[in-house]
Amino acid sequence: VKTTAADLPTLRWVGDSDGCLTLIDQTLLPTELREIECHDAATVWEAIKSLRVRGAPAIGIAAAYGVCVALRGASDSDVLARLDTACDYLATSRPTAVNLFWALDRMRAVGQSMQGKPAAQVRARLLAEARAIHADDQRICREIGRIGAELLCDGQGVLTHCNAGGLATADYGTALAVMFAAEEQGKRLRVFADETRPLLQGARLTAWELQQRGIDVTLICDSMAAQVMREGRVQAVVTGADRIAANGDTANKIGTYSVAVLAEAHGIPFYVAAPVSTFDLTLDSGEQIPIEERDPREITHGFGRETAPAGVKVYNPAFDVTPARLIAAIICEAGVIRPVSREQIATVVGQRKA
Ligand code: MRU
Repeated sequence: VKTTAADLPTLRWVGDSDGCLTLIDQTLLPTELREIECHDAATVWEAIKSLRVRGAPAIGIAAAYGVCVALRGASDSDVLARLDTACDYLATSRPTAVNLFWALDRMRAVGQSMQGKPAAQVRARLLAEARAIHADDQRICREIGRIGAELLCDGQGVLTHCNAGGLATADYGTALAVMFAAEEQGKRLRVFADETRPLLQGARLTAWELQQRGIDVTLICDSMAAQVMREGRVQAVVTGADRIAANGDTANKIGTYSVAVLAEAHGIPFYVAAPVSTFDLTLDSGEQIPIEERDPREITHGFGRETAPAGVKVYNPAFDVTPARLIAAIICEAGVIRPVSREQIATVVGQRKA
C-alpha cells in the first residue's frame, strides 16, 4: 500500500493479449493508494460502476481494455460475437459520459474490420487499439493544457469542481491540465477545489492531485463557492465535461451548473476543458443527455455514517447540464471554442469528428 507518491498511472495494461488491466482504486484515495487487477469484464464493469475508475476519458480507456480482458480464451469462431457481447455489457456500466460509448464503438469497428481473421490476431489488434486510445488521451490532454493555459494569468484564483485531473484521464487531466500547464509556464495560481458532494471527488482526488504536484490548493465546501467569489478570490472557473451536445450544453458532475450560475453572477469566466471525444454531436441540446441517478445511500450514508433519517425520500442525480450561454469558452485539443455556439462547435469539432 502506497500512501504518498503519485507515481502510479491511473490505469495500465500489464502483459500481452492474455494480460490484465490494472487501475488505481480511486474509492480508497486519498488515504490509500492501491491498485486493483481486472482479469474479466465483470470486474471492469464493477470498477466503472462503483467509481474505482471514474472521469469521462478514464472510463473510456478502462472500457477499451475491458474488451480485451473479456476476449480471453475466445476462439476463431466466437471472437467477434464475444466482442459484441462485451461492448454491449460494458456500455451498461454508466450512462452519462459519452467517452465510454465512443471508446467501445471504436473497439467494435476495429473488430468488424477483422472478419474471418484468427482470434489471436483479432485480440492483438484490439489490444493495440486500446493502447492507442490510452496513448491518444495522454497526448490530447497535454494539448488541452497547452491551449487552455493561455486563458489563465499569473496570480489568479481558479475554482474547479469535481476531479478532471490525471485520475480522470490517462495521466494529465483536462481542467487540471490547464492549471498544470499554466504552472509549468511559471504562472502561480491559487486553486479552489469544491469538495463535490456527495462523493467528494474534489476533496479526495483534486485536492490530493494538486497537493502532489505542489500547486497551491484550498479546499472549500460546495456551498462556499459564492462567498469565495464575492470576496474576489476567484478570477476564472475551469471544469471538465462528461458530454457536450451540438449546441454546447455541457453535462458534468452535479453542482457544476450552480457554479456556472454563480460565475455569471460575479462576472467570472466559466471555462470547460474536454477532448473532442466528449462531444456528442448526435444530440441537439443538453436536454437529450442521459443523467445518471445513483444510489440514495451515497447521500444518506456517505462514507459509512448515517446522516439522514431512515426512510427519507432522496433524489441523487450524479450530473447536471450547464447551458451553453453560461460557458465563456470550451477548450479542446482542436482549439478554443468561443463563442460557445452550434456554429463554432461545428467548425472546430465537426471536422475532427468526420
Ligand atoms: O462521477 P465521476 O467522478 O465520473 O464524474 C466525473 C466528472 O464529472 C468529471 O468532471 C468529468 O468526467 C471530466 S473528467 C476529465
